[in-house]
Amino acid sequence: MQNKLVSLKGSPIRQPAEDLVQHQSLAWLRKAHEEQLALCGELEDIADSLPSSINRQKCIYAAKALGPLIRGVHHFEETVLFPLIQSAAGGHFAETIDRLKFEHCEDECFAEELTDALLKLGSGARVNMEATGYMLRGFFEGMRRHIAFEREFLLSRLPGDDQALA
Ligand SMILES: [Fe+2]
Repeated sequence: MQNKLVSLKGSPIRQPAEDLVQHQSLAWLRKAHEEQLALCGELEDIADSLPSSINRQKCIYAAKALGPLIRGVHHFEETVLFPLIQSAAGGHFAETIDRLKFEHCEDECFAEELTDALLKLGSGARVNMEATGYMLRGFFEGMRRHIAFEREFLLSRLPGDDQALA
């Protein structure tokens, strides 16, 4: 016995509860992306402050926020968003999603190194300023590209997501 509602055109009609879960999930993701972009802005400020105008407190705050924020967003995307996308796209975009997951993995490793460097900066320890600046810029530039792609390419493919680019 079929337990799914089907529209006149034969496509499945999603249950209200499913729509609510998706709506709340996307709202959460947009907020999380905004938080990640705000953190990228903080990291850019730190990079611009090297080598002689470092705000140590800002470095320590960024070091503590970085890992948990990144891992939380990645976990959500991989367990909720990507399955939704694949379901909506009928199995398309598998290679794209694999690439995004690989980028998550790289970013998490990169974030660990960056956390160590930020804690050293925050404590006033000696660090290679040029290498740290290069690391900071590589991280936030890559993260901005990743988020822009997810917003413009993936979220816009979800049914009923007319706020993806808002
Ligand atoms: Fe992502």
